[in-house]
Amino acid sequence: MSKDIVQIFDTTLRDGEQVPGCKLDREQKLVIAERLDTMGVNVIEAGFPVSSPGDFKSVEAIAKLVKNATVCGLTRAVKKDIEVAAEALKHAKTPRIHTGIGTSDSHIKFKFNSNRDAIIERAVDAVKYAKTFVEDIEFYAEDAGRTDNEFLARVCEAVIKAGATVLNIPDTTGYCLPDEYGAKIKYLRENVKGIEKAILSCHCHNDLGLATANSIAGVVNGARQIECTINGIGERAGNTSLEEVVMILRQHPNLNLDTSINSKLLYDTSLMVSSKMGMLVQPNKAIVGANAFAHSSGIHQDGVIKNRETYEIIDPADVGVTESSIILTARSGRAALAYRAKIVGYELTKVQLDEVYEEFLKYADTRKEVKDDDIHQIIETSHIDLQSIS
Ligand code: KIV
Ligand code: ZN
Repeated sequence: MSKDIVQIFDTTLRDGEQVPGCKLDREQKLVIAERLDTMGVNVIEAGFPVSSPGDFKSVEAIAKLVKNATVCGLTRAVKKDIEVAAEALKHAKTPRIHTGIGTSDSHIKFKFNSNRDAIIERAVDAVKYAKTFVEDIEFYAEDAGRTDNEFLARVCEAVIKAGATVLNIPDTTGYCLPDEYGAKIKYLRENVKGIEKAILSCHCHNDLGLATANSIAGVVNGARQIECTINGIGERAGNTSLEEVVMILRQHPNLNLDTSINSKLLYDTSLMVSSKMGMLVQPNKAIVGANAFAHSSGIHQDGVIKNRETYEIIDPADVGVTESSIILTARSGRAALAYRAKIVGYELTKVQLDEVYEEFLKYADTRKEVKDDDIHQIIETSHIDLQSIS
């Protein structure tokens, strides 16, 4: 059975770039946009054109540059925003306007001092107005995660009628549990008239560390677009991480879902975004962190040396990492020491290994990590007969 393709909507250049300290200049944005396009991203959210003249120019330049992906610009449900976004996107091969408004009681009361009916009216007006400029209109129901499902269904139904092609259901505050978010998507699929005319999209924030789990729950329940960023960057604790959702769908074929992403570019793209934004990736970050394929405990190293699959569920080459690494620490065993000693040029016999291992442990207890130079030194200063080492 052929797999359903989940559209990847990358918002590194919009939600990701909102992060303090992550601001990019136009050239940097163009390089990242080009890479996202090459990697197979379906929709690139290039920015929020009305927010500044600089962002307008960047969205315009990205719209001219991108060859394959849809290029999208964010707006509020405000006429001026929509006009400016349409202008910035006018050279895009396939433009999309992403407009919306807060739908939770908290947003309606505190942000807009309004009421539910008036919010639906604004949403519908915004979609209809955006539709006068481009065909492809994505509507976001901000704070949908905390919006009552019945009201959310009313909003969705109204904006589909007005011409929305994609319905973004953001868990803006990262509040939902995966079951709850999945049930929300299912509820909308089952209760919104005309839902078959639109794609449901997941836009999940990571305030409770559940952004990826919630997005997966969303697609399992029928959403067909995930909004995400490289390295999971984004407001506060960040967004769903692109590399995580892509690899989850690939590693779980029984979900019958996939994306069009060339996963071999994931690691390099992570490095590119991290260095351009000056935003370090935590070493234990799934898929792209420096330790994602590093093994340091003796038990694990012994297994990986015998067969990589004992402790790795992803072949590092599939995400563009050259190889798994065996890191030597005081928790490493003889198998790992022999393995690394061989790489740096010493084939140790069992007796030699026993002797060098004693010295290695004494040294490793005083260090965080034992590097190749240290191995040379330990072996050269040990009492074993170096002539006999092949
Ligand atoms: O988190 C959110 O709700 C957003 C919207 C603007 C789509 O980023
Ligand atoms: Zn967001």
